[in-house]
Amino acid sequence: MPNSQENMEKENVMTKPINHQVIKTEASGIRLVLDLVKKPADQMIELTVGEIDLPTPAATKEAGKQAISNNVTKYTENMGFLSLRRVISDYIKRFYEVSYSPENEILVTVGASQGIDLTVRTLINAGDEVILIGPAYPAYIQAVVLAGAIPIVVDTRSTHFRLSPEQLESAISSKTKLVILNYPNNPTGIVLSKEELSSLASVIQKYDLYVLTDDVYQRLTYNQDCAPSIASAPLMKERTIIVNGLSKSHSMTGWRIGYLAGPKVLIQEIYKIQQANVGCASSISQMAALTALTTDIEAPKTYITVFRKRRDYVLQRLDEMSLKYTKPDGAFYVFIDVKLFGMSSWDFVAFTINESDLVLVHGSAFTEAGEGYVRLSFANEMKVLVEAMNRLEKTVDVLTAKKYAHLI
Ligand SMILES: Cc1ncc(COP(=O)(O)O)c(C=O)c1O
Repeated sequence: MPNSQENMEKENVMTKPINHQVIKTEASGIRLVLDLVKKPADQMIELTVGEIDLPTPAATKEAGKQAISNNVTKYTENMGFLSLRRVISDYIKRFYEVSYSPENEILVTVGASQGIDLTVRTLINAGDEVILIGPAYPAYIQAVVLAGAIPIVVDTRSTHFRLSPEQLESAISSKTKLVILNYPNNPTGIVLSKEELSSLASVIQKYDLYVLTDDVYQRLTYNQDCAPSIASAPLMKERTIIVNGLSKSHSMTGWRIGYLAGPKVLIQEIYKIQQANVGCASSISQMAALTALTTDIEAPKTYITVFRKRRDYVLQRLDEMSLKYTKPDGAFYVFIDVKLFGMSSWDFVAFTINESDLVLVHGSAFTEAGEGYVRLSFANEMKVLVEAMNRLEKTVDVLTAKKYAHLI
């Protein structure tokens, strides 16, 4: 008789399984490292999160406040305000030299993250293969697995993280539908040249594939005003979906504004999911984005001036520690080679947390093709970076002493 509380609870246990693809999807490893931290947060230095520490530009913030004061606080068109899409279209014309119609080829999203998810869901059928370039930002694999597709990771460790056309071609099968590119890259900071991208474009055209180009770090480059994108290569428009956003270019992670640009036939399908999914991106954030991409269009340059000093300092300290890395030409990460310590990247990160109160991200969070490396984000104040590098040096000294202890 189900009269005791215990029996009633037993009867209420749900036995039907939830979605298999959701179960198969792993949580992002970037945040997993934080579970290893046992001390109070103020004792730790965390160089983990991919977020600019500097504020959103002033005029952009003001535009957000004005939107609230002016009661621009209702639903917008599902595609986003047409005025914002016009500005995005101009922005793309300037930085990509490609034309996208604001009426039907641009859609405003809730961050680039939603743009990735919408694109993958729109293009992919269960069983399709999607090529990811490893090491890869974790949200790609999550979106692909959720869609029931098979992620095929191209390991670029042997080519210093520069994807070659041969590597790409060898990963293609008859099931391949989509390639996801991300340059400037998270976690390596690699920027591919126009020539490298155009040879990748030839392979993508040869096999009739789609490409999603995640260009969120496009304006955070150290040697040029803007990184090249495969979207600008000839004859690519019909098969390319640009994912971009303001989180990184304008330090607007909390505003949640991104956008997609792609051929009309795709955007009109993506639009249907947007309608059912969130309706539209925040009206307030859209108004702020409009100012970010006009009045504050040069904001990324001010961030880069600050980041260049930080990057150069961090690289100099790594050189002094004799640690290897690939010099980042974009974004605000350095991917440090820790293979010489003979431990996994996860164990290295755990050791650094315990030994020196410093939190980095294990390379394997970016697929197995990131194993052997750790990611350090230098989007942090200089005084924090100085202390962080002292702590890293301490870890390196301890590990080096351990390694050679048997020789003494
Ligand atoms: C490569 C890459 N794409 C997309 C995103 C997500 O950006 P958003 O805040 O616009 O969703 C990130 C955030 O770290 C990223 O590194």
